[in-house]
Amino acid sequence: MDIQRDVSLKGLNTFGIDAKASYFGEFHSVAELQNLISNPDFKSLEKLILGGGSNLLFTRDFEGIVLRNRILGKEILEQNEDFAYVRAGAGEIWHEFVLFCIENGFGGLENLSLIPGTVGAAPMQNIGAYGVEIKDSFAYLEAVNINDGKIQTFDKDACHFGYRESVFKKELKGQFIITCVVFRLSKKPAFNTSYGAIKTTLDEMGIKELGIKAISDAVCHIRRSKLPNPAEIGNAGSFFKNPEIPEIQYNILKEKFTEIPCYKTSPGMVKVPAGWLNEQCGWKGKVVGQTGVHKNQALVLVNYGNATGAEVKKLSEDIRHSVKEKFGIELETEVNII
Ligand code: FAD
Ligand code: EPU
Repeated sequence: MDIQRDVSLKGLNTFGIDAKASYFGEFHSVAELQNLISNPDFKSLEKLILGGGSNLLFTRDFEGIVLRNRILGKEILEQNEDFAYVRAGAGEIWHEFVLFCIENGFGGLENLSLIPGTVGAAPMQNIGAYGVEIKDSFAYLEAVNINDGKIQTFDKDACHFGYRESVFKKELKGQFIITCVVFRLSKKPAFNTSYGAIKTTLDEMGIKELGIKAISDAVCHIRRSKLPNPAEIGNAGSFFKNPEIPEIQYNILKEKFTEIPCYKTSPGMVKVPAGWLNEQCGWKGKVVGQTGVHKNQALVLVNYGNATGAEVKKLSEDIRHSVKEKFGIELETEVNII
């Protein structure tokens, strides 16, 4: 592996933050990664695994080694009449992998079209959109232990998936490098159009016959109209998670804020859209120096060009305080802050 010194990460994170990595390298295979892990020169360095950099906020230079995952490959492992098991290298671009599955007639990931980033990062926060999460089609993954280089397999139970959560963000944070993911996809897919906007968009697009390609097209259309394109304006998608609160707390809030939206998650619990809370606190479209809150989506913080990570973080803290003060709700960050 070619290791470089003092590398700018500006082009490698979708927020476009100009942070520097003391050391930087790319690995293309498990063997290359294991060699680096066992190399005494790098043993003591702090390590950060980088995919597409679309869920990261750098607030400082990284005084360790940034390792960019470039393990590629897509393979249909086995299939029968109903299901196909498909394996993807962790460095594959997520959306390209979704399109590969759609082209082969394998359903399950179409609602997750156009989410930025790599396959390997997808299980980290159990990516989700439009009524679907990857846990719904997940079979297992392989990961390399960052300390001893040994390969370990994690099935769905071992990943402890939750809403934007997994064991890799919690108990095993920083301990494993995901090298490939295997999905169990359906050849007789049940279409998920529960998210109202999908149905409306399919109608607007004049699509008569429902299929995984049509759903993917509709999702891409909605996403392009709602979310800022990181190639044009720096961002990392939703900055916060949608908070889950007890229904009793929600009912009390509703007496004062009659328009407050929610959706039921489990008995006695509801989720409140953080975008609505932020908007009510006056943040939507707000510009603060080089950073701000997107004009169409109050859950997305943006970099207008030269913001520092610290400025974006400060803005996020101000938003959290205002939401806590007005609604008594604690927002949790979704983006990984470095
Ligand atoms: P990175 O940002 O590179 O890394 C994210 C974290 O995972 C870091 O902690 C990193 O160290 C770790 N990591 C990365 N790869 C590996 C690996 N192979 N092994 C171990 N650790 C690893 N997310 C959603 O869930 N739903 C959405 O709808 C959605 N929409 C988005 C829209 C926009 C415009 C943007 C910019 C982001 C959006 N996201 C969404 C967030 C983001 O796309 C996902 O979290 C994505 O999975 C991140 O992938 P990445 O490769 O860019 O990860
Ligand atoms: N809303 C507002 N104002 C806003 C934005 C949203 O009032 O500025 C309210 C509206 O009531 C709207 C509701 O929030 O109906 C939901 O908004 P939207 O459909 O845009 O979804 P979201 O809850 O803001 C979540 C995910 C997205 C995912 C979409 C679609 C989280 C944290 N975010 O956003 O994921 O793409 O649903 O399923 O769960 C990401 O994780 O980075 C991400 C973009």
